[in-house]
Amino acid sequence: MATVLVTGGAGYIGSHTCVALMEAGWEVAVLDSLENSSSAAVDAVAKIVGRGLRLDVGDCRDESAVEKVITEVGPDAVLHFAGLKSVPDSVADPLRYYRHNLESTATLLGVMERNGVRRIVFSSSATVYGPPDELPVSETAPTRPANPYGWTKLMIEQMIADVVRSSSRWSASLLRYFNPVGAHPSGMIGEDPEGVPGNLMPYLLQVAVGRRAALPLYGTDYPTPDGTALRDYIHVMDLAEGHLAALQALESSAGQVHTYNLGTGRAASVREVIAAMREATGHPLPYEEFDRRPGDVSELWADPSRALSELGWSATRTLAEMCRDGWVWQSKNPQGYR
Ligand code: NAD
Ligand code: WQD
Repeated sequence: MATVLVTGGAGYIGSHTCVALMEAGWEVAVLDSLENSSSAAVDAVAKIVGRGLRLDVGDCRDESAVEKVITEVGPDAVLHFAGLKSVPDSVADPLRYYRHNLESTATLLGVMERNGVRRIVFSSSATVYGPPDELPVSETAPTRPANPYGWTKLMIEQMIADVVRSSSRWSASLLRYFNPVGAHPSGMIGEDPEGVPGNLMPYLLQVAVGRRAALPLYGTDYPTPDGTALRDYIHVMDLAEGHLAALQALESSAGQVHTYNLGTGRAASVREVIAAMREATGHPLPYEEFDRRPGDVSELWADPSRALSELGWSATRTLAEMCRDGWVWQSKNPQGYR
């Protein structure tokens, strides 16, 4: 059985990807500092799959922790999810973000090289595009991140591409996620943000479960059909399956670095998301209208055709399924993993 190391595998997207990997027959080891997650997520992955996985609690910036897991596990590839991901935090403390995200990746790549592990799938973000000139956004669109978090993602893409160029034994897949939402349909794992949720879907789920009174709806004067912003929401299990496809493709990609949008190619407005979530939860989901949130773009959705033609992957789950599965998780676990 082939083995993969998943950094950040206790986190939201990493834990769902662990389920998809293990169900496809991969042996999985997780390296996670647990600074934004809980070991309960890894326990729940094992329960869903009916098979155990190794968890090392450690930081990717700690060379000895990375070395230990890589030498003991001997992975065939690494899926690199570990990192800090809050846009507003990155604006408030940019150096923390640059240090953390770049140093984690540089340390990881160095240990991989030393140990002859030269396949990596990296969690990038549609944030690297910034405000788009054209829609849908393809991988060849200009990149101009509007915040330090997005710059760390673009710089890491460059770092990985340069490493691949240094030796034809490397191969890499850079996955630009659009808006990941929802949960595994079992409701045993899901998104569990610390404090007040910054993103739309987790905020709505906390209103539905009674933890918050009303959604703040940011921006009702966008040049869109209903005045609210349009995004490409993608079910986290579709995203997880995209990683599996990217990982499999690395086997025949020596010396290459590939970049893929992982989105549905469909856009939903904030009002459409509220309506779909009302349907899924049966809750009236009150909201209060506010001005636009600074830095938000009006519309952003993916052209996911490259992933379909080169990886044979496309997202299949609907907005209704994203809301339904998110609600199964939140209603079974009103306080998340706590
Ligand atoms: P998350 O915070 O739930 O998961 C990240 C995990 O990495 C956490 O478990 C955290 O404890 C761990 N971690 C952080 N720094 C670490 C370090 N230095 N060493 C070891 N572990 C560390 O976030 P997520 O939503 O699952 O995102 C996963 C990845 O995908 C991140 O790189 C994020 O930037 C990227 N991404 C997320 C989104 C999104 O909307 N959720 C969109 C695009 C890209
Ligand atoms: C969606 C829409 C908000 C919250 C973010 C990151 C991006 C990526 C994915 C990591 C917008 C509106 C939101 C609320 C609202 N993450 N909204 N009330 O901004 O598209 O992307 O997550 O890479 O980097 O920026 O997602 O869910 O925050 O917002 O009205 O309480 O919902 O204004 O129009 P976004 P989001």
